[in-house]
Amino acid sequence: MYKIAVIPGDGTGPEVICQGLKVLAAVSQKYNFKYETKTFDFGAERYLKTAKTLEDKDIQELRQYCAIYLGAIGHPEVKPGILETEILLKLRFSLDQYINLRPVKLYNPKFCPLKDKRPQDIDFVVVRENSEGLYKGMGEFQNKGTKDEVATQISYNTRRGVERCIRYAFQYCRKRNRKKKLTLCGKTNVLTFAWDLWERTFYAVAKDYPDIQADYAHVDAISMWFVKNPEWFDVIVTDNMFGDIITDLGAMIQGGMGIAAGGNINPEGVSMFEPIGGSAPKYTGKNIINPLAAICALGMLLEVIGETGAAQAVESAVIKVVNKKLKSLAAGKMGYSTPEVGDLVVDYLT
Ligand code: IPM
Ligand code: MN
Repeated sequence: MYKIAVIPGDGTGPEVICQGLKVLAAVSQKYNFKYETKTFDFGAERYLKTAKTLEDKDIQELRQYCAIYLGAIGHPEVKPGILETEILLKLRFSLDQYINLRPVKLYNPKFCPLKDKRPQDIDFVVVRENSEGLYKGMGEFQNKGTKDEVATQISYNTRRGVERCIRYAFQYCRKRNRKKKLTLCGKTNVLTFAWDLWERTFYAVAKDYPDIQADYAHVDAISMWFVKNPEWFDVIVTDNMFGDIITDLGAMIQGGMGIAAGGNINPEGVSMFEPIGGSAPKYTGKNIINPLAAICALGMLLEVIGETGAAQAVESAVIKVVNKKLKSLAAGKMGYSTPEVGDLVVDYLT
């Protein structure tokens, strides 16, 4: 019996999570496993009513679950930064989900903005460090509000934090068993403290993985190559900030936010899965948002809890829907409503 915590959250979060749960109900029947869900109302609505974001007792409760399934956090009426730090980042940090795993996979060349790229050309995974770096929130103002104001924002990198992330990436690359190439995405030519530590750790850990090609590229060059030669990549490991940026670019080359999913992973604890597109306020309540990113996130959840067959079935069904049915992956242009796309995935489950 799997206990799954569901946080539909804000904006279009509840609409897409609802479709993911529909797929979960169907796939659990087919693959014969049992689960129960509990829904938590963390998010903007509760915050606007009660000023509560996420309390320590909420975190304690979430620790009891096998996995967390999250829709989106963010609301136009709440100042940017509050819900993000006090809910999303707090979940990631306090549950020590130190890996943010973001697959970039093109399912249908028709939806790729790049010319002449085939599905086999865009198929890589970004392992984003998810607990440190610039996201640590270190820094300060000096002389705030004056003409002499200075703001610093520090990237915090520990050997331990960097090493566990890099080790995970090597292991993931080995298990994935494709090109067997791990690229470190950094900026050693300018950020000479943080990336020196990353680079030294990377090549030290690489010695334990002689079967994996250890490769390095600067983040600016990687951005260029995502567009020019995405087929060069297999697994990429990088820090929190660079990972955030390059995975939005990755989402675009795989067909857009409608299909991009991610997992916040604690390999020893509770992991959390989410579509990476955010709460999309302008599409909220219209039933036109693409639920496939949330459904792909559900697939990742199933994989991580050990329901590999079910995970594969979900991905195969998504691939069929993307190739046989949808006119576009973009909200409002799919040719189907949000619940209809969920139904199509259920229909194609085998
Ligand atoms: C993401 C998002 C978050 C991040 C925001 C909402 C805090 O952009 O999951 O990529 O920066 O990590
Ligand atoms: Mn982001």
